[in-house]
Amino acid sequence: MRIQVIFGILWIFTQAAMGLLFQDPVVCRFTESNQCYVALGQRLHLPMPLEDGFDLKIIDKTSTHHLILKYRKTQSNPPKPNPPRWQFVIDNKTMILTSAERSDSGTYTLDTTDAKGTLKGNYTLQLNIEAEVSSVKLSYSCLSPGVMKVYCSADGDNLRFNWTSDLNTLPQLENGNSTLTLNKDHHGKVTCHVENHVSYNYNTTELHPCPGPTTAVVTSTLSNDGLLFQDPVVCSFNQSNQCYVALGQRLHLPMPLEDRFDLKITDKTSTSRLILKYRKTQSNPPKPNPPRWQFGNDNKTMILTSAERNDSGTYTLDTTDANGNLKGNYILQLNIEAAVSSVKVWYGCLSFDVAKAHCSADGDNLRFTWTADLNTITQLEDANSTLLLDKSHHGNITCHVENHVSRVRNTIELHPCPGFMVFVSVWLCEVIILLSLLVGAFCIYNRIYRKQKITENQEAL
Ligand SMILES: *[C@@H]1O[C@H](CO)[C@@H](O)[C@H](O)[C@H]1NC(C)=O
Ligand SMILES: *[C@@H]1O[C@H](CO)[C@@H](O)[C@H](O)[C@H]1NC(C)=O
Ligand SMILES: *[C@@H]1O[C@H](CO)[C@@H](O)[C@H](O)[C@H]1NC(C)=O
Ligand SMILES: *[C@@H]1O[C@H](CO)[C@@H](O)[C@H](O)[C@H]1NC(C)=O
Ligand SMILES: *[C@@H]1O[C@H](CO)[C@@H](O)[C@H](O)[C@H]1NC(C)=O
Ligand SMILES: *[C@@H]1O[C@H](CO)[C@@H](O)[C@H](O)[C@H]1NC(C)=O
Ligand SMILES: *[C@@H]1O[C@H](CO)[C@@H](O)[C@H](O)[C@H]1NC(C)=O
Repeated sequence: MRIQVIFGILWIFTQAAMGLLFQDPVVCRFTESNQCYVALGQRLHLPMPLEDGFDLKIIDKTSTHHLILKYRKTQSNPPKPNPPRWQFVIDNKTMILTSAERSDSGTYTLDTTDAKGTLKGNYTLQLNIEAEVSSVKLSYSCLSPGVMKVYCSADGDNLRFNWTSDLNTLPQLENGNSTLTLNKDHHGKVTCHVENHVSYNYNTTELHPCPGPTTAVVTSTLSNDGLLFQDPVVCSFNQSNQCYVALGQRLHLPMPLEDRFDLKITDKTSTSRLILKYRKTQSNPPKPNPPRWQFGNDNKTMILTSAERNDSGTYTLDTTDANGNLKGNYILQLNIEAAVSSVKVWYGCLSFDVAKAHCSADGDNLRFTWTADLNTITQLEDANSTLLLDKSHHGNITCHVENHVSRVRNTIELHPCPGFMVFVSVWLCEVIILLSLLVGAFCIYNRIYRKQKITENQEAL
């Protein structure tokens, strides 16, 4: 069971590295090109010439020169690189960096000499370490009834953005930019491609038409991608007694055009509190409490600029006429939920013929469903964030996550699990790694224990 978990993690790692443009290890050569790009954390091999002697130096971005390795064939011991993160394999004269760091970027110079110490050649190589592209996120908002703006963000160094669309041709001018402005004719899917020198990644979102000019307040819509209700959400006491608003969203609550009303909230600790007491005869408009609520006296609308979780509760409204006779009372259940975000999908091979897909997301009251484009998902653990798949499954699977206020999905492409032999060999490797870790731990323990024993004996003497 434990072994399977470890295998799953290794497989996920392979998935994550699929966006890299160069195979691990990256091999850079002084003789090929003078530019070399390596991803942060990647392994680098740097073959040295087969000369009698050479000096390898780095000039970092502060123009400081630093000797990394001085090699003379006549030396009795192989030379040790400085910093020791570099290793020098003397058999095949290769410099190896196990995990490249940003500080390894710089200009590398190599001077070679013959046995007599005469200069034979000099070479230069520019090494650039870049963090690979990750977490490509897309969102869009309606700027005005006709115009929408699509945003793309990603982590990584020296990012270049590019856009494609399945239904429309995109305006070329904004290519290479992380935002894209579209007119209302645009719908369907847009894809943001992000690349740098070491990796490539992309993400796709489906655009829905912006609301027409009859919906007035669309300009305040922020990047609420995936939200089910337009900002502001309008809840009303006469419609339904349930109202769902996303955390941070704006809420409008129209009040009746009566002479008097009292608006109260009963929160989840059953505490009742008066929010607004309105009397038409008052000279000054009443002030809501808490002051996060605003009361628009002109159109009798209560406005909450940014809903908080503690605004959830049962709202009651009692209306009376000018003489104080009860005219009506209403109840509204207000529910504030954090929108679905950060939907991640990944999978691991449990054995050579069974894969398990996982989906995770942030947000309140999440519900998960799965769909597949090529297979019908039979072993569906619906409403669950994990999914077991047998080996007939391949192609794309999509995890849909929704709650009352939003809906987001994410798709992953399934690759067949490695065959039986590969699985068994990886399995064996894991066993061997675990065993060697155990033996290592035992040796260290033994050594410390013996040292302690010796010290105790000495103290006893
Ligand atoms: C040099 O030897 C190292 C260690 O055995 C190996 O990882 C590397 O691939 C070799 N490089 C070449 C160019 O053969
Ligand atoms: C390096 O080689 C070039 C010609 O290839 C030569 O002009 C230059 O002087 C050399 N630099 C050193 C430091 O020897
Ligand atoms: C519900 O209330 C709103 C505002 O108070 C009002 O504009 C609307 O006409 C009412 N709807 C119905 C069906 O009574
Ligand atoms: C009421 O007025 C406020 C402030 O001007 C406005 O934001 C809101 O949209 C109005 N509500 C209605 C229902 O007209
Ligand atoms: C509700 O939460 C907000 C922010 O978390 C806080 O400022 C406010 O005091 C809270 N209100 C109540 C009534 O607890
Ligand atoms: C979700 O999956 C887990 C593990 O497979 C299982 O224990 C749990 O009962 C499932 N939950 C539902 C709601 O199906
Ligand atoms: C999965 O989706 C991606 C992106 O939409 C697409 O490029 C790929 O061809 C799909 N794979 C299959 C097997 O349909």
